[in-house]
Amino acid sequence: MTKYELRQQRGAHGSTRRQFLRQLGLGMVAAGAAPQLLDNAHGTSELKKKSHKVKYRILGKTGQKVSEIGFGGHSWSYKRVPDGKGGYRKPTIDEAIRMIAAGLEMGVNFLDSCTPLIESSVPGEALKRLGRRNKVLVSIRVSHKMKGCESDKKEVFKWTEERLKLWQTDYVDLCLLCNTANDTPKSGYWDMSYSIEALDKLKQQSKIRFTGFGCHFTPELFLEAFDKFGNYFDIFSLPYNVRHRAAEKLLPEAKTKGLGIITIKPFARGELLKNRDLKRTDSGLPRDMISFVLEHKLVDICTCGVHTIEQVRENFSASWTKLSPSGRKRLEKVADTAITDHQYAWLEHGWRYA
Ligand SMILES: NC(=O)c1ccc[n+]([C@@H]2O[C@H](COP(=O)([O-])OP(=O)(O)OC[C@H]3O[C@@H](n4cnc5c(N)ncnc54)[C@H](OP(=O)(O)O)[C@@H]3O)[C@@H](O)[C@H]2O)c1
Repeated sequence: MTKYELRQQRGAHGSTRRQFLRQLGLGMVAAGAAPQLLDNAHGTSELKKKSHKVKYRILGKTGQKVSEIGFGGHSWSYKRVPDGKGGYRKPTIDEAIRMIAAGLEMGVNFLDSCTPLIESSVPGEALKRLGRRNKVLVSIRVSHKMKGCESDKKEVFKWTEERLKLWQTDYVDLCLLCNTANDTPKSGYWDMSYSIEALDKLKQQSKIRFTGFGCHFTPELFLEAFDKFGNYFDIFSLPYNVRHRAAEKLLPEAKTKGLGIITIKPFARGELLKNRDLKRTDSGLPRDMISFVLEHKLVDICTCGVHTIEQVRENFSASWTKLSPSGRKRLEKVADTAITDHQYAWLEHGWRYA
């Protein structure tokens, strides 16, 4: 029996549902949360009344049962919550706990974090207070140079150790290799061989369970990576939304290698939702955009960034809401919207067409 299986059996941090709700209530009292959430804990919440649950899929060769929608990590590091003074701030830890608790109540069991440190510290603290670490799959992303150099190993160890601390855990479920900031598709390489040696060691030490890769490079480089390294890895991650659909070309290839598929950027980092009247004429649009991603049967998880509890409720409801014909028509219009923010130009250049 592996260390991970032992931990699961012992339920070291585990709890029954009743204990979970109690912990949630107590945790929130400690954290000074609004009484409304205590009501939730005693079963009067809107969520509980509706008791909608997300659906599950199998994450490729990992064999893990995962919620088809997961929490993205960028939520915790971007300043996008109105601060009441005309500016924006990051979600507080109490807000993060409320959001994550609401997702867990709906059955969400996947939490991602990208490379910035804060993305791991916030959900790590939230899961600790909720006592739910061993009920979810935690995914981290670690940067390496991809140049096939010995120093990659050191980098992978360093990033993993840092993130284990921030997630307040002694293992993570998924560890994905990412490119470093200065590497671009023009670098013309994708050598993960040294990093793989580091991942093997981390697996032996029971610090990571499954491995994967992802980056912002071109779809063509992904094809090359499947070919060279697809047999080694368990999963990969790539952008996919109504406008940026190059993933459709890659997914069948990935499945031939048994890779689990995690999609990112269902809203192109919110760019496809800009200037829309989401309270009235465009109400339900974010949910429909996730439903679109989930319609692709080769997708295992769609991860999305969220900043408010309302966004959590809307986005995860895509799991039980079918796209209507009018919703589908509306998506066609969204797909025609060009992205102008230069930060996301890479999506427009490489990721548009299947
Ligand atoms: N290098 C990598 O491997 C990599 C790169 C990118 C992303 N990722 C992962 O993928 C996850 C998802 O991608 P992403 O966060 O970049 O982009 P995304 O999910 O496409 O967009 C997130 C943004 O969309 C807006 N949004 C979400 N739900 C909404 C709703 N119901 N109503 C209105 N607006 C809504 C929010 O914008 P506002 O802030 O304006 O509210 C939110 O910040 C990330 O969080 C991260 O975990 C990994």
